[in-house]
Amino acid sequence: MSVLVVGSVNVDITVRASAIPAPGETVLGPAAQVSPGGKGANQAVAAGLAGAPTALCGAVGADAFQEVALRGLRRAGVALSDLHRLAEATGLALITVDPHGENAITVASGANAAVGPDHLPSTLAGISHLLLQQELPEAVTLAAAQQGRAARVRVVLNAAPARVHADLLPLVHHLVVNEHELEAMAGPGEHAAQAARLLARGPEVVTVTLGARGHLTVTGSQTLTFPALAVPVVDTTGAGDTFCGVMTARLALGEPLDRALRAAGVAAALTCTRPGAQDAMPDWAEVQAHLA
Ligand code: ADP
Ligand code: NA
Repeated sequence: MSVLVVGSVNVDITVRASAIPAPGETVLGPAAQVSPGGKGANQAVAAGLAGAPTALCGAVGADAFQEVALRGLRRAGVALSDLHRLAEATGLALITVDPHGENAITVASGANAAVGPDHLPSTLAGISHLLLQQELPEAVTLAAAQQGRAARVRVVLNAAPARVHADLLPLVHHLVVNEHELEAMAGPGEHAAQAARLLARGPEVVTVTLGARGHLTVTGSQTLTFPALAVPVVDTTGAGDTFCGVMTARLALGEPLDRALRAAGVAAALTCTRPGAQDAMPDWAEVQAHLA
């Protein structure tokens, strides 16, 4: 069965500068890197590369940035018939990175902020898994989750950036958060206890990604923990998005939870071995080679 991602599409413009500018200051860096991004697009690319038929619903502008925005999606074979071209500009993330690797990010939401419930596909026929994040207007994410539930589709939410909408969690089957999002949503405590608190608010499965320490998944009956694959880390950008896309793709292909989680962690680690997000994501053959 197949995956529908409803989410954001951006172009990331990254400058490695001498410092992050203070108000009124100008800092200099060499050439900017211009690359496709946005959590929705990143996760769709990861899902497509992991072998599941994948479609993306979202929006770009009818401007020069759309070609960059769609490059990785096309390469990964993601279906784009529900990707809308709106009057607003393609979403842009302006990223300044200092010599210590600290960053400051300004997001111009553009077309992403103009996506409304009317842009959702009229039917979810053939879709087994809906994958959502929180970079589109809340009304769209909520409407998509409601539509998914009504169509008996599995609803996966990556609650990034962290936000707690009281109506959304009960519609979610599988919640994925990183440590920061876990803390913001569940308050302080041990990871398993925090995850259990989120479980009590609706989802059947809660997965917590723990960066270089791997990931943890709690269901009503079991706790699954996985260490991270030891890799030479170059750039962790895109790790979380790879995890969500690959996990959902492998579940959609019918794999059991533990195998889908293991593949997701391995793929996310491989994304850390190369610069960038979409451009760094492994294809399924590379993931498989590390699963053997
Ligand atoms: P996010 O990018 O959303 O903050 P994490 O940093 O938790 O998410 O990373 C997601 C997953 O990527 C982790 O669960 C792990 O499997 C993998 N990962 C992240 N950082 C590393 C690392 N340094 N080494 C190996 N795997 C990593
Ligand atoms: Na990367």
